[in-house]
Amino acid sequence: MRFLLLNGPNLNLLGSREPELYGSETLELIENDLIAKAKSEGVELECFQSNSEGELVNCIHEASKNNVQGILINAGAYTHTSIALRDALLAVAIPYVELHLSNTLARESFRHKSYLSDKAIAIISGFGAYSYELSFLGLLNHLRSHK
Ligand code: DQA
Repeated sequence: MRFLLLNGPNLNLLGSREPELYGSETLELIENDLIAKAKSEGVELECFQSNSEGELVNCIHEASKNNVQGILINAGAYTHTSIALRDALLAVAIPYVELHLSNTLARESFRHKSYLSDKAIAIISGFGAYSYELSFLGLLNHLRSHK
């Protein structure tokens, strides 16, 4: 199986960005841990981060051509604003899990709106870096039992 992990704007700053909210692990560490975890489950995990909405959209289009079967997405602030990302995910029709380090529903009201949630398989929010592993395991379990 092949999965894609997508991270949106400002997540390249993990480790130094508001550590009280987002923890001290860098994105590189999170990605490497998850690549290893995925490998041990027989899954090839591709990782991509961008601060640009259009690049994220292009990457979702590419995922379809590259036979990606599942997407893990932390769209950062684009979660709350981007119809384009929603449309891209729906266009390729690849099952996805929406994930967040922080519990967005416990934060400012503008973070309560998500353009991705209602079409996601599931939402994992609030477990810090562990949200990534939980999302991966959930997606894997879902795809294995929905073959
Ligand atoms: C975030 C939550 C978003 O509201 C915020 O804009 C982020 C990070 C999270 O992982 O908790 O950039 O997606």
